Amino acid sequence: MFNEKVYSERRNKLRKQINNGIILILGNNDSPMNYPANIYHFRQDSNFLYFFGIDMPGMAGIIDVDKNQDIIFGNDIDIEDIIWTGPQENIKSKALKAGINITEKFEKLSEYIESALKQNRKIHFLPQYRTDNKILLSNLLNIHIDKLKENTSVELIKAIVNIRSIKEKIEIEEIERYMEVAYIMHTTAMQMAKPGVHESAIAGTIEGIALSCGGSVSFPIILSVRGETLHGHDHSNIMKDGDLLLVDAGVESPLHYATDHTRVVPVSGKFTQKQKEIYQIVLDSQMAAIEAIKPGITYQSIHLIACKVIAEGLKNIGLMKGDTDEAVKQGAHAFFFPHGLGHMMGLDVHDMEDIGQNYVGYDEEIKPIDQFGTAYLRLGRRLQEGFVLTVEPGIYFIPALIDLWKAENKFAEFINYEKVENYRTFGGIRIEDDILVTANGYKVLGRPIPKTIDEIENFIKS
Ligand code: GLY
Repeated sequence: MFNEKVYSERRNKLRKQINNGIILILGNNDSPMNYPANIYHFRQDSNFLYFFGIDMPGMAGIIDVDKNQDIIFGNDIDIEDIIWTGPQENIKSKALKAGINITEKFEKLSEYIESALKQNRKIHFLPQYRTDNKILLSNLLNIHIDKLKENTSVELIKAIVNIRSIKEKIEIEEIERYMEVAYIMHTTAMQMAKPGVHESAIAGTIEGIALSCGGSVSFPIILSVRGETLHGHDHSNIMKDGDLLLVDAGVESPLHYATDHTRVVPVSGKFTQKQKEIYQIVLDSQMAAIEAIKPGITYQSIHLIACKVIAEGLKNIGLMKGDTDEAVKQGAHAFFFPHGLGHMMGLDVHDMEDIGQNYVGYDEEIKPIDQFGTAYLRLGRRLQEGFVLTVEPGIYFIPALIDLWKAENKFAEFINYEKVENYRTFGGIRIEDDILVTANGYKVLGRPIPKTIDEIENFIKS
């Protein structure tokens, strides 16, 4: 945990942004895999971690705005738990480390909420993504489970987004501390990518690196020679000469801060001319996007800068044609780049996505664009100093999409389908780094992982 003052100050900041009432934040519970005692790796809820810091299951936190009081609800473990899982620091002592001196047994939560409801006090709660917590909230508040979402507190969501979007110095330090592990994960994958090696051997090794360094992975590893599958979690291929291996992986630090990088390497150690051309376009697009980052600019406009570099580059090698601005305006580039440029990152790899992507990435001024490809842009609003975000453009040749659009002759004035056929088995290339928005521009976080064509080829050779 951070120092107790960190959590008290965060709660005070939140209290100041909420008019009145009670803020209820539920922690997560252990979750069974295939029978109750065989559980998934425990992951605490990120909002609970942010405001209360306690990393154990079966807890709830109250921030009472009116009474200026914070309470932790949770149960100490008994002798049976101690026999099976070992001793645990008690709740009182953990709560004190979060700057809270009032603790109650978990069963008391329903009495507390019932009494608040009787007094007609406003209870602010967040959207829930786990069924057990949905059931708990539904029972506590006497709201049908289907109606929970429409009763969540937009005031609370907006306040939390305001606070968590601007990363504190200690948060940035924690992210950067584990960037070292991200560097080892990605460079190990580069060294292991050779003809005859199973994808699963690399995926297992780099997940093991995250675990062996005291962390875990920040999302299921994406690693495949079929890089055109955006979230390719299947690692069943054996690599061969001529393949490109795409690795999109991150580590989660012990305090649960994420990293998220993507690199693509030639399995034979050298990119072919065709691969080099596509790789360089993606790299140019990523560099143009990173260089545009500064407070005040919208990320939507940076996404469009990246799209234009991709469309222009593809036009130069004959895969696209026509007017580049018009192609991007109409969304033709999304045939090759069908996702957003990046997302916020912090305690979650897609930071705060649980409480509503549009609240995190958009606002009154910048609304999502409902167009294939750009609709997946998770961050569009104006950047502020302290945001941490990813920049991850890509070019993909997706056989099913090629067949579909070609059959429809979609955007035929911008896409050269005849030439696209020569790339049907090419795969995909994405390049991703994590960026801090600074007062005057940006900082690429972490030790640079080989990225240019020369850097990658030289690294593999060495
Ligand atoms: N790096 C995985 C994702 O952003 O979804």
